[in-house]
Amino acid sequence: MERRIEVGILGATGMVGQHFVRFLQGHPWFELTWLGASDRSAGKKYKEACQWHLGGVTPEAVADIVVEDCRPGNAPKILFSATDASVATEIERAFAQAGHIVVSNSRNHRMEPDVPLLVPEINPDHLKLIPVQQKNRGWSGQIVTNPNCSTVVLTMGLAALKPYGITRVIATTLQAISGAGYPGVPSMDINANVIPFIGGEEEKMQQETQKILGSMNGQKIVPLAAKVSAHCNRVPVVDGHTVTISVELSAKPSEAELLAAFDAYTSVPQQRKLPSAPPRPVIYMPEQNRPQPRKDVERERGMAVFIGRLRACPALDYKFIALGHNTVRGAAGAAVLNAELMVSEGLLDG
Ligand SMILES: NC(=O)c1ccc[n+]([C@@H]2O[C@H](COP(=O)([O-])OP(=O)(O)OC[C@H]3O[C@@H](n4cnc5c(N)ncnc54)[C@H](OP(=O)(O)O)[C@@H]3O)[C@@H](O)[C@H]2O)c1
Repeated sequence: MERRIEVGILGATGMVGQHFVRFLQGHPWFELTWLGASDRSAGKKYKEACQWHLGGVTPEAVADIVVEDCRPGNAPKILFSATDASVATEIERAFAQAGHIVVSNSRNHRMEPDVPLLVPEINPDHLKLIPVQQKNRGWSGQIVTNPNCSTVVLTMGLAALKPYGITRVIATTLQAISGAGYPGVPSMDINANVIPFIGGEEEKMQQETQKILGSMNGQKIVPLAAKVSAHCNRVPVVDGHTVTISVELSAKPSEAELLAAFDAYTSVPQQRKLPSAPPRPVIYMPEQNRPQPRKDVERERGMAVFIGRLRACPALDYKFIALGHNTVRGAAGAAVLNAELMVSEGLLDG
C-alpha cells in the first residue's frame, strides 16, 4: 500500500478503545489519526483524557492527539467503534448516515438482519449485505460488526466442522475477567471463585453463532439450523476465554477426519495474507493438557484460536476445547481484520 489509510476510533478512551490504539500501532495499512469519546474527554489530549490500563504507557504516536466529540464532522472515513453500548446505536448510525464506514465492536447492531456479523475466515460473503443495508437505510456509509468475545472462540472452533453438518452444540465457557472491561468484576467476587452468570451472554452466543455460521441467500442470511446451547461462567483468568464444546454432526465423520479438518483449516484472510490474519487461524494442540490461557493465549498475536482434546462425546458425537484471546480476537483484532478484509474487497475505495 503506497499511503496508509487514515482511521479513527469512537470510544477511544475506554478499555476496548485502548486495545484498538495498541493493536493499530505500526499497522502497515492503517494510520490512526483521530480519536473520539464523550464530552467528558473531548478537548483534552488523549494522554490526559484516558487512564491507560494496558501494559506500559500511552503510545507516543497518539498521546498528544486532542480527543473529539463522537459527532460526524472531520473524522476519517473508516472508524472503529468501541463506544459504550448505551450510546453506540445512535452514534454509529449517525456516522454511517454521514458516509462513514463503522467497523463496530459493540453489540448494538450485530443481530440486525442487514448488518454483517463478520468473522473473515468464516463468512466473508456476508459482506454482500452492505448494499442491502445502504438501500434499506438510505446511508452512503455502513456498519459492520464483529461477534461477542466468546462467540468468536466457539465459531472458529466449529468452522472447520461445518461441512460435516452441525446439528447440535453445547458450549460451556470459562471467561476471563478482562472481558468485563475496567474495573470489571470486583476482586472480592472473582478471587478463588467462579461466577456462573454473565448477563445476556448465553443468548448472544446462541444467536450470534447461528447468524455467523448461516448462509448468504440472495439478500439475507439464513441462520444455521443447529440447536446451540451456551453456559457462561466468569473465572479468575486475566486474558483468554476457554470454551468446552460438544457437537453433533449429521455426516458422522471419524475422529481422524475431524483432526485433518482442523489441521487443514484456512480461509480468505490467509489466502490474501491480510496483515492481521494468523497464518493458521485454528491450531490443534495434541497435548492432553492444552490449550491453557496462561501458556497459549498470547501466541500468534492473540489472533489464532487454539483447539485441543478432541474425543468422542457420549451425549452428542464429539467434544473438544477451544481457547481465544477475548480482547484481541474477541474485540480489537477482530474489527481490524474485518476492515482489512473490506480493503481487500475494494469496499473502502472511493
Ligand atoms: N470490555 C470488553 O472486553 C469488551 C469486549 C467486547 C465488546 N465490548 C463492547 O465494547 C464497547 C466498549 O466497552 P469498554 O469495556 O471499552 O467500555 P468503557 O471502558 O466503559 O469505554 C466506553 C467508551 O465509550 C465512551 N463513551 C461513553 N459515553 C459516551 C457518549 N455519550 N458519547 C461518546 N462516547 C461515549 C467513553 O468515553 P469517556 O472516556 O469520555 O467516558 C469510552 O471511550 C461496549 O459496547 C462493550 O459492550 C467490550
